[in-house]
Formats: sequence, C-alpha cells, structure tokens
Amino acid sequence: MLRADALKSADYIGKSVTIRGWVYRLRKQKENTFLIVRDDRGGVIQSVLPTSIVPANLTIESSVQITGVLNRDKRAPEGGYEIRGNNIKIFNIADSDYPIGEFQSVDLLLDNRHLALRARKMVAIAKIRASVLKLARNWFIMNDWMEITAPIIVKGAVEGGATLFKINYFGNDYAYLSQSAQLYLEAMVFSLGRVWSMTPSFRAESSRTVRHLSEFTHLEAEAPWVELEDVLKVQEELISEIIKNIIVERQAEFALLKRDISTLDKIKPPFERISYEKAIDYLRSIDFTVLDKDGRNRKIELGDDLNIDSERELTKEALQPKFIVGYPLKVKPFYIKEDPQNVGYGLAVDMLAPDGFGEITSGGMREDNNQVLTTRMQKEGLDINNYQWYLDLRRYGSVPHGGFGLGIERLIRWIIRIDDIKDAVLFPRTMSRVSP
Ligand code: 4AD
Ligand code: MG
Repeated sequence: MLRADALKSADYIGKSVTIRGWVYRLRKQKENTFLIVRDDRGGVIQSVLPTSIVPANLTIESSVQITGVLNRDKRAPEGGYEIRGNNIKIFNIADSDYPIGEFQSVDLLLDNRHLALRARKMVAIAKIRASVLKLARNWFIMNDWMEITAPIIVKGAVEGGATLFKINYFGNDYAYLSQSAQLYLEAMVFSLGRVWSMTPSFRAESSRTVRHLSEFTHLEAEAPWVELEDVLKVQEELISEIIKNIIVERQAEFALLKRDISTLDKIKPPFERISYEKAIDYLRSIDFTVLDKDGRNRKIELGDDLNIDSERELTKEALQPKFIVGYPLKVKPFYIKEDPQNVGYGLAVDMLAPDGFGEITSGGMREDNNQVLTTRMQKEGLDINNYQWYLDLRRYGSVPHGGFGLGIERLIRWIIRIDDIKDAVLFPRTMSRVSP
C-alpha cells in the first residue's frame, strides 16, 4: 500500500487507490465529508467521501483505511490531489477529547509528548534525526571505523563529579550512569584501532537551559596514532558530510519546518581554527565580561572557560562552525594532554556552531603519563581505585591517541535552528521531566 506522497502522482489519476492512516482534519457536509488522512510517515492527502458511508461518531485521530479513485483537484490542499472515496474501514474510533489542538502550551505538549510527536512538524524533526543517525553511521562505515558499544552502568566519572547520576547497585554497592563512553573507547583503540560509538550519556544538569538534557545521544570517536589536527579533520569531514547529504535527503522536511537551507549549503571543510588565546584576546577587545565567584562582573581573562555568551560572540558572523583550540588545562577534564609547547594549556578543542548555537563537540589528545593522570584525578577528587583499569592502558603499550564527543541533539538543534534542545529528541529528559 502506498503512502500519501507516493500516491500524489499523475500515474494514479483515475485509478483505484487505498490509503491507511489517521484522521487529520474532518469537515462534514450534508452530502460529502472531507477527510484528510495522515499516513504513518506524516504525509497527508485529502479524501472526499459520501457522508452516508462515514460513521457519525468519527473523530480526529481515529485510524482508518480509505479506498477510492485518485483525482486531480487544484482546490485540494497539500498538492492538489484528492481521493474520491467509496469505502472507509475503521480500525479504531478515537476518544473525542484528543488533547492536542492547534494552540497549546509548551508544558501541555511535553506532558502529551507521546501524542504531540504525531504533529507533522515533530514528524519532520524525527525524520531529520533519523537521517542524522544514519548518515553519521554511514560516514564511519565508509571510512573504516569500528563501531563499539560501551557500558552505561559505570564506576567512574569522566566529566566531573557534579553531573553524575548515582544509582543503587544491588543494595550494597553503587554505580553511575555513564557521562561519556570515552574511557572505554580509549581501551578499544588497542584492539580495534579507530573506534566510535553512539550511546546515551547522562548528566545530572541542575540548570535549565535550552541546550542541556539529562540524557542525550552521544556520538564519540577515538583513534590511535593521531595528532590534534587529525581529530579536527575527522570532525569537520563527518559534520560536512552529514549536512551535505541531509539537505538533499530531507529537503521536504526542511521546507515543512520553513528552514532555509542556503546557509547549510555552504558548510564545507576546512572549518576555521582559532586558538583559545586569540579568542580571549578578541573577547577582551570587545570588553566581554563574566561573572566572577563573588558575583561581580569583570572583564574576561586568560584562564576563563568559555560560556554560551562568549561562544555566541565568537561565532556571531561565522558562516561555518569554528574550532577553538588549546583551552587551559584547568577548565578541561583530567584526561586532556598538556600541550608540550604551551605549559598549562591542553591539546583540547571544542567546535562551536554558528549563530550562537555554541559548543557541539569537545575533544582532544589524551594524557598518557600515569603520574600526571593520577595527580589530575586526585585534584578532581576522583577515587583512583575506580580507574586502575584506565591507568593499565598507559602501562601496557600506550600510544598517542585522541578523539571527540558530539552531542547529536546539539547538532540537530543547530541544523534545524530549534530554540529548545528538547525538540531535538523524541522523549526529552530534563531536571523537571522524566515522563512520558
Ligand atoms: O563536552 P563533553 O562533556 O565531552 C565529553 O564527554 C568527552 N568525554 C567526549 C570525548 O572526547 N569522547 O560532551 C561532548 C558533547 C558536547 O560538546 C555536547 O555537544 C554534548 O556532548 N553534551 C550535551 N548535549 C546535551 N545535553 C547535555 N547535558 C550535554 N552535555 C554534553
Ligand atoms: Mg565540552
């Protein structure tokens, strides 16, 4: 059975066709009933049925199958095709109190996310999301990277203790939900070479922002015998390839979302690289201020981390994503390798999306000296016992290696220009929401 978009073709005019789906719009008149069907990929087509064969209690979101003759009618919405129906089969008459109408509060839509996802805009986003996942996987397959899966239940923090979700582990033990698969990816470069993974990562983010989720889809990659520049190249090639293909593959969805893709069309490697120090110089030149520990505003200075506001300043006029290279070690986690040419600074890189969408990836080279690692872990207050296996990786045949992590929802948020990251995931998890 064809879906709506496939049916809308000159080939089927005058022929008998059948469509299956849900009642999207319903307008009953004395003689005829106009019924728009939404199929199981969000496509819609109008049908006209004799009111006499339409059940009197038919409601929006009832599931139906309609058979009739395809007709071209300029007045028909969504492409000018219409099914002159002569048969309607009902699977289920929906309750008449469907909670989702045209103008609903954000909270009501989130409470009813399981239903709200049927909206055509949400279907379009879900399709773009599916394509991002597929294109990312394709890129790694084409470039000979091995996919691995890492455990979600772990004993060690990767990205600091503040955002860990602690879970009870069989009564007398504890564990955490993974913040990042990185340490496991590092373990696998010794046996599989270039590896990547796409796993949920968890952050107990206590701040409500439009770019943080407590559960997100984390694409991470790690490779042996690379230098920092290689880590940048992988990222810009991966992201450019995803975008190049998605604007073709999902043209209709971008159009439905009214997203102009002409800026995405220009995304091509190489992306601009600027040093962290240059970034701070620039921010100082425009008198950019940050809130210091005492709650006072002061001019940004070397050593400060970048935040969403400084990231926005740095990418305001950018047409492409931008790499910021060489952050101070103290704003990066324990595993980042110190730059031998620049003491106190790390071989670390973030990619910032244009137009204030901010950080979408973080990565870098990994520290391989166990003494340095141990000292840094202690500084972060980590329990070394949980990292003995990680330190083993440096004891037995360590090699220079590096990688990065990309937040899939951050990427989707930027390419579709979604205000709130919650709309880049189907069932968002945040501080105030774990259901549906
Ligand atoms: O910058 P992060 O914390 O880096 C890591 O986890 C590294 N261990 C990755 C690695 O090198 N293998 O997270 C990586 C990316 C961020 O740049 C961001 O895109 C996304 O993950 N991310 C989040 N996305 C949504 N909600 C959150 N709370 C996120 N935290 C990080
Ligand atoms: Mg980061």
